[in-house]
Amino acid sequence: MTGAQRALRRRVWSYYRRHGRHDLPWRKTRNPYRVLVSEVMLQQTQVGRVVPAYRAFIRRFPTVQRLARAPLRDVLVLWQGLGYNRRARALHRTAQILVAKHHGRLPRTEQELCVLPGVGVYTARAILTFAFDLPTALVETNIRTVLLHELVGERRNVTDGELETLAAVVVHTRRPREWQWALMDYGAYLKAQGVRVNAQSKHYAKQSTFKNSTREVRGAIVRALVHSRYLSEKDLLHTVKAAPAHVRAQLAALQKEGLIRHNGYWSL
Ligand code: ADE
Repeated sequence: MTGAQRALRRRVWSYYRRHGRHDLPWRKTRNPYRVLVSEVMLQQTQVGRVVPAYRAFIRRFPTVQRLARAPLRDVLVLWQGLGYNRRARALHRTAQILVAKHHGRLPRTEQELCVLPGVGVYTARAILTFAFDLPTALVETNIRTVLLHELVGERRNVTDGELETLAAVVVHTRRPREWQWALMDYGAYLKAQGVRVNAQSKHYAKQSTFKNSTREVRGAIVRALVHSRYLSEKDLLHTVKAAPAHVRAQLAALQKEGLIRHNGYWSL
């Protein structure tokens, strides 16, 4: 390790000891299913919103078997407020695969984990770290901020591959869980201080306005169906405030993805 890397380690631990978010509910468990649920929720939703949703979700679906058996509709009901309903569907499918093919347990390799719906490299490594206590080259938004800001300097177009190499060098092999939490919390702190590194990262892509509006329409459709169960197309077009062609296109897309269905009326 270089001097700069050693200094970073000290800074990160020192910050974490004093200001770490030690009370987050998913940090008090090693249960692989709970870690999976929390990480899928945290993929695109902020911590503050995830805490109550995670608690309610685990209360309603305390085990992978309970989640696998539940109708998708019940899962979507609990997912309201988190956005990106496709993640809920993927998590539900993953639960069914785990029960059908893995005795309800999570596999312990990145390769096997990455096959599961909704589980990418980040989520697979997060499970290996937080559930199985294995050191991995974990990179997500907050960790990316730390590594770019503290170790890379001014250079642009840094790939996630390079950041993963750095992450693998600085990872604390005896305390991998705490180390990754510490990096995340320090990264969140840097961001709150106004540190912006995204322009340096090749990975970072600003979400387009079109994508945002599509996501909003999709969210509004699912929310309307969670609320009302069955809706005619006319009622849906009235409820979802967007151009009818846009709403119709997303109804078709959601139907094709298996999130909603149509037999006279639209429903989940
Ligand atoms: N705290 C904030 N984000 C987290 C994450 N993705 N995993 C574990 N703890 C977190």
